Amino acid sequence: MTATDPLVIFTPSGKRGRVAAGTTVLDAARALGVDLDSVCGGRGICSRCQVAPAFGAFPKHGVTVTEAALSPRNAVEDRYDRIRGLAPGRRLGCQAQIRGDVVLDVPPESQVHRQVVRKRAEARAISMDPATRLHYVEVAEPDMHEPSGDLQRLESALAGQWGITGATADLGTLQALQSALRSGDWKVTVAVHRDAPQPRILHVWPGYHDGAIHGLAIDVGSTTIAGHLCDLATGEVVASVGLMNPQIRFGEDLMSRVSYAMLNPGGAAELTAAVRDALDSLAAQAAAEAGIDPALILEAVIVGNPVMLHLVLGIDPTELGQAPFALATADALHLRAGELGLHLHPSARAYVLPCIAGHVGADAAAVALSESPQLSDDLMLVVDVGTNAEILLGNRTRVLACSSPTGPAFEGAQISSGQRAAPGAIERVEIDPVSKEPRFRVIGTEAWSDDPAFPPDTRITGICGSGIIEAIAEMRLAGLVDASGLIGSAEATGTDRCVPQGRTHAYRLHGDILVTQGDVRAIQLAKSALYAGARLLMDAFGTDSVDRIVLAGAFGAHISPKHAMILGMIPDCDLARVSSAGNAAGTGARIALLNLAARREVEALVRGIHKVETAIEPRFQEHFVAANAIPHATAPFPHLPRLPDVAFNLGEGRRRRR
Ligand code: FES
Repeated sequence: MTATDPLVIFTPSGKRGRVAAGTTVLDAARALGVDLDSVCGGRGICSRCQVAPAFGAFPKHGVTVTEAALSPRNAVEDRYDRIRGLAPGRRLGCQAQIRGDVVLDVPPESQVHRQVVRKRAEARAISMDPATRLHYVEVAEPDMHEPSGDLQRLESALAGQWGITGATADLGTLQALQSALRSGDWKVTVAVHRDAPQPRILHVWPGYHDGAIHGLAIDVGSTTIAGHLCDLATGEVVASVGLMNPQIRFGEDLMSRVSYAMLNPGGAAELTAAVRDALDSLAAQAAAEAGIDPALILEAVIVGNPVMLHLVLGIDPTELGQAPFALATADALHLRAGELGLHLHPSARAYVLPCIAGHVGADAAAVALSESPQLSDDLMLVVDVGTNAEILLGNRTRVLACSSPTGPAFEGAQISSGQRAAPGAIERVEIDPVSKEPRFRVIGTEAWSDDPAFPPDTRITGICGSGIIEAIAEMRLAGLVDASGLIGSAEATGTDRCVPQGRTHAYRLHGDILVTQGDVRAIQLAKSALYAGARLLMDAFGTDSVDRIVLAGAFGAHISPKHAMILGMIPDCDLARVSSAGNAAGTGARIALLNLAARREVEALVRGIHKVETAIEPRFQEHFVAANAIPHATAPFPHLPRLPDVAFNLGEGRRRRR
């Protein structure tokens, strides 16, 4: 290139360089490494290569751009505009040729690796580069003198036109190939899956196919199964569906399901059939919600805890029920979705994220991918709270992980008036520290119970996980429960809401909804397990404090960080630095669906995560016992007294104990 060749500057990337006059914008973008999309390979069909040229003086870039900087609109662009419409000021990058210095804006929808917006400011963006993409190709016609198969000519077209080498195809794709090639007049659009072990042609459409293709990100939890159906070109979530895991009928928690498999001949197969059925209906529901044919779902990414994954894969989970908790495999898996009983596209692929260890599964790996402690300068504690808590602690230097058996109390199970988070459940509680009177909020009703707008006929059916945590934390603040977790009598607390129950007392929250001594004990056990797991990782890291805490999981989204800290569920931390990540495991699955490199990243990350086994770590028991007190027997929790409404009462509680 010489200094007289046109200078081309792409925004927003700022990439610039000189190209020979007459070069198309698409070729210039490729030469300069600019992210400009193309499905049709520059044939003026797909319009993915749109750019917006800017004219005038650009002192910042040192250029003045005239209308003559690009070739005039050609017949292909006119035709496209006539048929599909080209927005004013837009050009097709594969048609417009560069003739002079020019500044070209690449709009987000023309960027191959466009960023998918995440709602949380601290979350990393998802860069679009899905494993499955569409490519338009023109295939050589058969020639008697150079005999070759249609698939082989399609493969060489893919290699020559898209640089995709060694592509293969399933029998189903092969069965449809010949008619697609001929009815498309040797022009076809193919969906190619580029992940290991080799590129695979999943579907062939005659001619240029403009429709969307989809992928499903699935998080198989022991209680709920969540799925996000995504458009593989834009990354947009077109449907989100959640189902109860039907395996609940075989046992509430993981270990009772493993026991079911161990004790009942054919039990594992029953559990597999139940979860696979649920996954299949999840896919069907998501497709129905998005108004698409399930056959247009070309890929699924699956995460879950080790027991769930074994069962989805049809592997007996017995080994996970006993030390040394051996997984069938810890590696990521590349499968055909049909092998898992999913009725998606017949050639659809399934990618299963790797597991970290016997008790720390692909769900924790997905959380790590979503929250990326390995990229953080701060020391981050990530807690995914469910029936089991998966805990990650780390920063750029290293990441540690463990799993802690919190049990289902945080989900409202084993609580006298406990219920799942559903309309009618008390989800927020405040107790006046002087009058000891409660006010609360119920799922499905906006107003607090003491608000005149609170409908008197509101059905109040029980208390959910977040509600019981707030209730007990508020009881602690109001001096109704002491640091050991004991509920006081009416006499000691000065309220007749504290009623005797056998040899203990209970606090009457509303009607016959009580917080009993047993409830407090159940929450104490669960929170001690959670805290002890986190503390064990802190020991292994050699630290007494963390900079940031992320609460993941659907339940994490509803916990009040303040109340969680008052209870001592989580270690002390500046409350402003405790955030909720929602379903981070599901988000991690979505990242792996939308970004191929993220799969290699999580595979490498998992190999580098150091696993701490709580079951055999002697200090776990010690931490567990110390964490039984509210908030803790020995840890100072220095941030708690700085909260004005907390300092006095906790102090009082401690004084009273003395
Ligand atoms: S690359 Fe498809 S229209 Fe330009």
